[in-house]
Amino acid sequence: MSEPILPFGDKRDAPFYGKDIVSVRQFTRGDLDYVFAVSKEMQGMVARVGTFDLLKGKVLANVFYEPSTRTSSSFTAAMERLGGSVIPINEVRYSSVSKGESLPDTVRTLERYADVIVLRHPEVGASALAAQYASKPIINAGDGPGEHPTQALLDLFTIAEELGEIDGLTITMVGDLKYGRTVHSLARLLSLFSVRINLVSPKILEMPPEIVAELEKAGTPHAAFTDLEKVIPDTDVLYVTRVQKERFQNAEEYEEVKDAYVITPATMQAAKSRMIVMHPLPRVNEIAIEVDDDPRAAYFRQMEYGMYVRMALLAMVLGKA
Ligand code: NCD
Repeated sequence: MSEPILPFGDKRDAPFYGKDIVSVRQFTRGDLDYVFAVSKEMQGMVARVGTFDLLKGKVLANVFYEPSTRTSSSFTAAMERLGGSVIPINEVRYSSVSKGESLPDTVRTLERYADVIVLRHPEVGASALAAQYASKPIINAGDGPGEHPTQALLDLFTIAEELGEIDGLTITMVGDLKYGRTVHSLARLLSLFSVRINLVSPKILEMPPEIVAELEKAGTPHAAFTDLEKVIPDTDVLYVTRVQKERFQNAEEYEEVKDAYVITPATMQAAKSRMIVMHPLPRVNEIAIEVDDDPRAAYFRQMEYGMYVRMALLAMVLGKA
């Protein structure tokens, strides 16, 4: 990028101004280059000044109908580091949702107060529905087992920062590929690159056929495995996921698969010296804590990259980048 992106002016003709971020399917490779360039600028600004007033006067409604630590607090931190403020709605139990208010009514209320709405909801398509009703930007922070686009963007940014290049890599996704929304979004985004994808899961938690079909259509080489050991030596990025207990109808089924894969120092020994381990977190048992001190464990660094990416996205949809 030849021109510096910061300091920002008000760019109402900016490509993302006023846009919703509902699915990763909206992004082209050019968009990703742009998001990552702005994220880099954000990282630099935070290192230099910590907080700055790019979004001063702007208000974010942070609406979470499902539990969250990272997504919710990183959006809050992102908004506050840009000088904006946040209406937190974490306990929908205490909001009018518990009185039976519909999602369209809730978002039409919040957009009267806020400039942008971040929404996490247990139903697939909830953000798309909210976006139909709201005239302010809706950012999908997870719609049930559907998508988690901002997580996938930060995952990709993490890979680019840690390994330099995305093209040419072999990415192994392991765990709950059926209900894990982060891997749904990440697989879709990765299909824009020339990568190879290994899908490692128990039979009952395989990647949904529609996403496999999208990989197929994009010509992304991919293969499904139940055995992790086989693919470890060739893996550049090991993307570990939690078995999504809350999506299971049947508690016994969960018990059967919950500890299907555990990354241990022995796994790391079989891996490349330049491999990275990622996890959207929270982790339950999937990565032994002994792995945390391995320099290849990137999951704590991954969270920090997330704040820069979310700063970039907020600035973009509010026309400041
Ligand atoms: C993920 C989510 O909510 O989908 N967490 C996150 O946003 N970092 C992953 C998970 O809950 O397992």
